[in-house]
Amino acid sequence: MKKPCIVLGVTGGIAAYRAPDIARRLVKAGCEVFCILTKNAQNIITKQTMETMSKNPCVVDMFESPKSWEVEHIALATRADLFLIAPATANFIAKMVAGIADDMLTTTVLATKAPVLVVPAMNTNMYENPITQRNIAALSALGVRFMEPTEGMLANGHIGKGHIPEIDDIVRRALDEMSAKAAEGDLKGLKILVTAGPTREPIDPVRYITNRSSGKMGYAVAAEAARRGAEVTLVSGPVALEKPDGVNRVFVQTTVDLLGEMTSRCEEADIIIQSAAPADFRPLTIAETKIKKLGGDGMVLELTQNPDVAASVGKLKKEGQVIVGFAAETNDISENARAKLLRKNADFIVANDVTRPGAGFDVDTNIASIVSSEGVEDLPLMQKSELAAWILDRALAIRKAKGKP
Ligand code: PMT
Repeated sequence: MKKPCIVLGVTGGIAAYRAPDIARRLVKAGCEVFCILTKNAQNIITKQTMETMSKNPCVVDMFESPKSWEVEHIALATRADLFLIAPATANFIAKMVAGIADDMLTTTVLATKAPVLVVPAMNTNMYENPITQRNIAALSALGVRFMEPTEGMLANGHIGKGHIPEIDDIVRRALDEMSAKAAEGDLKGLKILVTAGPTREPIDPVRYITNRSSGKMGYAVAAEAARRGAEVTLVSGPVALEKPDGVNRVFVQTTVDLLGEMTSRCEEADIIIQSAAPADFRPLTIAETKIKKLGGDGMVLELTQNPDVAASVGKLKKEGQVIVGFAAETNDISENARAKLLRKNADFIVANDVTRPGAGFDVDTNIASIVSSEGVEDLPLMQKSELAAWILDRALAIRKAKGKP
């Protein structure tokens, strides 16, 4: 059987000293590994070390002539099943965002169609700098995968975030990414209905009640499901995100609108994933004209309860259908999520503690606990795109366990 091919790009951060071990471990895991070093990486490790560990020629210079292996350098771009950049410096990430191709590594990564997994490692301030964070967000939106650096002792002696993750974690993640690639097309023939974003409950013609949902979580689910071949309908509240490729998007404003769309569409869906944050309450009456200040101390806005859309969808659940709910919690996460699991007749609930940094509303990452009749599974911090893939894997496995193809 052909071995999976990983191209390991190594840039010039101090963490490059871990790269030989990453290469060695990937080879041990059964991968064919080719390494590309930047010139600066050579200040920390040598080409010979990488060749010994990867058991293959290692490239630095774009114009170096191919040797016995007779592979044109750019051919690595097409040969790769996964492109892993570990460690990636802030400079390299910035070059990737700009599409700069001025050495062997930047050129090959720009030319590849393989999934790209980037493992940043750098000084804490550089990592947390909004420019680096913006670059990471921009690349994530284009489908590049990132591993979060860990906290640890950095080269300058300070303790902070920016440390390269454990080699075990990098290798496991690289192998997972390749199985995710293999999963492409595994949702073909399935109809997946996804909700995303907030709702807006009008008070008068100029004001409304809403919440902090950006839609990023639900859009990540819809994008991943479409990438894997599903027919996806995304029922979206008002958000500023672009429609993911290949997704049928329907906009709604209010929770009552969402209820209408979901109850009319849920019957034909094979998998339903409800990541929207519908408002639980709406003004009892909507003023026809803008409410004026009346000169008193304030005003009382009377609210009435909105329908629970997920509970209504749960009541209509058909045989073999998989329903996934979310739970945005601030306390007693598992207990609250367990109650929602039953109330919404869901197969599992993705509970996120929205008070934790890196989780919940309007960030690119999430930290979830999966609550099902089998118990609670805590997942680590990950990009919303990764959590989306995880949710879809789990939903598909449940569908198969229900005897559906
Ligand atoms: O959009 P992002 O900025 O990416 O943020 C992601 C998120 C925090 C919104 C997402 O991860 C999340 O937790 N979504 C669920 C938010 C929510 O409304 O949680 P809840 O615990 O109030 O609701 C539980 C479930 O019932 C959810 O599946 C929700 O879609 C659904 N619901 C809630 C209220 C309501 N009236 N009708 C519903 O169907």
